[in-house]
Amino acid sequence: MGRKFFVGGNWKCNGTTEEVKKIVSTLNAAEVPSQDVVEVVVSPPFVFLPLVKSTLRSDFHVAAQNCWVKKGGAYTGEVSAEMLVNLDIPWVILGHSERRALLNESNEFVGEKVAYALAQGLKVIACIGETLEQREAGSTVDIVAAQTKAIAAKISDWTNVVLAYEPVWAIGTGKVATPAQAQEVHLELRKWLQTNVSPEVAASTRIIYGGSVNGGNCKELAGQPDVDGFLVGGASLKPEFIDIIKAAE
Ligand code: G3P
Repeated sequence: MGRKFFVGGNWKCNGTTEEVKKIVSTLNAAEVPSQDVVEVVVSPPFVFLPLVKSTLRSDFHVAAQNCWVKKGGAYTGEVSAEMLVNLDIPWVILGHSERRALLNESNEFVGEKVAYALAQGLKVIACIGETLEQREAGSTVDIVAAQTKAIAAKISDWTNVVLAYEPVWAIGTGKVATPAQAQEVHLELRKWLQTNVSPEVAASTRIIYGGSVNGGNCKELAGQPDVDGFLVGGASLKPEFIDIIKAAE
């Protein structure tokens, strides 16, 4: 397969300057596999991006947690893709379920955001995932396929896209998907890409799992053939994030 393992740390709306400095210090001191083995991207809140960017070890990279859907301007409170490029921030997380739910970000809106961010030269962690109700209704694959389709409809180059499957019912709950559950959906997503985009994109696109990943469950999840890494929330703020990075070995 040859897909480099990818571990993202989504710090969400957390941190003070002192706490961020402590996390960066812990990350900088960690012994981890080389960049040839694992790609590590941490995503602090906007206000800490310059601090993290300027102090983080050079073999780890930084992502914003969102960006606006078009060129900047009269959009109070938004941060544009151009601003991230100007700050030399290479990655951005888009379509996170918390934004889809809290800010009503539709599939189409997320697709437009992904396309615009890629067009500005950013690399994108594109998030998808079903709710508990949708899973219990048996519509998981339909939901994540529709979310992926809305992205595919807007882009032609998947080179700089990492697809993050984050079942909403597993985010922040401690109810991690079983390895079999994660593998099942990841395989369906890879089949969807193969059928609807291309075999090359299906083979090369990293599909990562997010939702209550921790130092205890990461190894078994990482052992699944179509799990290419993680997008980690709560555990990315703790030293166990290093253990999760080492799951790449
Ligand atoms: O973006 C990753 C996040 O949604 C997962 O959160 O705390 O369940 O690891 P958590």
